[in-house]
Amino acid sequence: MEYGRKKWLGKRDRPSLNVSAVICSISMPALFIMVLVFQYFQGEKSLHLTVVMSIFAGFVSILMIKEINHYKEWTKNMAISMVLLNVGMYVLLLATSAFGPQHEALFYLVPIAAYSILSKRLISERYAVLSAVWMAWIGASVFHVGFSPEFMLTAIYFLISQLVAVYFFTSFLDRVALLKTASTLFLVHVILIVSFTIPVATEFFTWDLMLAILFAGLSVVVSVVLALGLLPLFEAGFNLLTESRLLNLSNPNHPLLKKVLVEAPGTYHHSVMVANLSESACEAIGANGLLARVAAYYHDIGKAFRPDYFIENQQNISNPHDELDPKESAKIILAHAVEGAEVLKEYKLPQEIIDITKQHHGTTLLKYFYYKEKEQNPEVNEKLFRYAGPIPQTKEAAVINICDSVEAAVRSKKNPTKSEIRKLVRSIINSRLTDGQLDESQLAISDLKKIENSICHVLSGIFHERIEYPSKKKQSTERIKEAR
Ligand SMILES: [Fe+2]
Ligand SMILES: [Fe+2]
Repeated sequence: MEYGRKKWLGKRDRPSLNVSAVICSISMPALFIMVLVFQYFQGEKSLHLTVVMSIFAGFVSILMIKEINHYKEWTKNMAISMVLLNVGMYVLLLATSAFGPQHEALFYLVPIAAYSILSKRLISERYAVLSAVWMAWIGASVFHVGFSPEFMLTAIYFLISQLVAVYFFTSFLDRVALLKTASTLFLVHVILIVSFTIPVATEFFTWDLMLAILFAGLSVVVSVVLALGLLPLFEAGFNLLTESRLLNLSNPNHPLLKKVLVEAPGTYHHSVMVANLSESACEAIGANGLLARVAAYYHDIGKAFRPDYFIENQQNISNPHDELDPKESAKIILAHAVEGAEVLKEYKLPQEIIDITKQHHGTTLLKYFYYKEKEQNPEVNEKLFRYAGPIPQTKEAAVINICDSVEAAVRSKKNPTKSEIRKLVRSIINSRLTDGQLDESQLAISDLKKIENSICHVLSGIFHERIEYPSKKKQSTERIKEAR
C-alpha cells in the first residue's frame, strides 16, 4: 500500500522551476526590450518611455513564469511553439506598421485574433487570456510612440479583439461555430471602430471609417485562415495534442488500432468499452473526455504482442499461464504497460497518451500471481508483482485506471443488477484510493462520486439492453406461437 506513495510522493511536493517555461516567458519581453532599446538609440522613443515599458515587460515575464509553472502538462515542445508564435506575431506587427504612419487605420489590419486562437488551442484558455493583455500592449507600442490616447485605443482594440476570439472560439471542426466566431469578431470590431470614431468625427460616413471597417474585416478573414493553416504545422512539428489530432488518432484505420483488432480482438473490445466509460466519466468531472476516449483505445496496445496471455483473448484456447511459473506470468503481464508506451513513442503518439498508457495500472499489485507465488514461496518480493507505474498523474489517467478495472470486473459477471454494479464500482474506487493510486491524480472526493455515478449510468444502460434482449425475443417467439 505504501509503495506508490513512497516512490512518487515528494517529487511533486516542491515543484521546481521549469526551464522551458522560463525561456518561453522571458523570450517575448526580452525581444520587446531589445526593440525598445534599439528605438531609443534611433531617437524614436524617449528614455522615460523605454524605462517604463521595460519595467512593465519584466513584470509581465514574472507573471508568465508563475502562470506557466503551474501547468503540469507543460512540455518543451509547447515552449518552442509559443516562442515561435510570439516572435511571429511580433514580426507581423512590425511588418504591418512598416507600411507607413500615414495610414492611421493600419493597426486594424493586424490578424491579432489568430494569435489568441492558437494560444488557446496550443496551451490553454487561461494562458491565452494572459498573453492577450501582453500582446495588446506590445501591439499598441509598435503603432504609437508614447502613451497617447491613440495608444490606449489601439491597446483596447487589440485586447477586446483577442478576448472575443478566446471566448467565442470553440473548434475548427465545427464550421458553423467557426463562422459564428468570425461574424461575432467582425461585429465587435465594427462596434469598436464606430465608438472610437464618433467622439472625434465631424461627419459620420468617411472614407477613413470605411477603410478601417474593411481592414477589420480582412483581419478576421486572415486570422481564421492563419490559425487554420498554422495549427496542423504546430501539431505535426511539435507533437502537440489538439482536438483534430485526437480525432485523427481515433480513426479505426490507424495501423496500431488495426493491429489490436486483428491480433487481440478481445483487447480491442475491452478498449472500446473502457473508452466509452472513461469519456463520459471525464465529461462528468470537467476533464478532457476526448483525450480519455482516444487514450483508452491505445492503453492496452502492449497486449497485441502476446495476446494469448491476456484473459480477454483466451476464448477457445488453453491458458498459456498454466504452463508458466507465477513470476514468469507476472513478468509478461506487467510488461504490457511499458511495452505499449514504447510502441506509442515509436509511432510518435502525443506524450499525454503515452503517459496514460504507462500509468493505466499505476503501481497496483498483480494479486492473483502474487498470492500464487506466495503459496510456494512465503518470502516473495511484492515489488516483482507490481506494475512499474507511475501512479496516475492526471484526472484522465486516473479515470482510465478506474474504468479499466471496472470493465474487467464487470465482464466476469453475468447480467449483474444495478446494485451489484454500484457495489463493484464503489469497491474498485475505494481500493484505488486506499492503495494511494489516486494520490497525485488531482481528483477531488466529489469527483470520485461523479465518476462512480457516470460509470454506473453507462453500465446499467449496457446491461439493461442485454437483459431486455432475450425477454423481447421470448415475447416475440410467444407471439408467433400464439398466432399459429
Ligand atoms: Fe492494461
Ligand atoms: Fe485495459
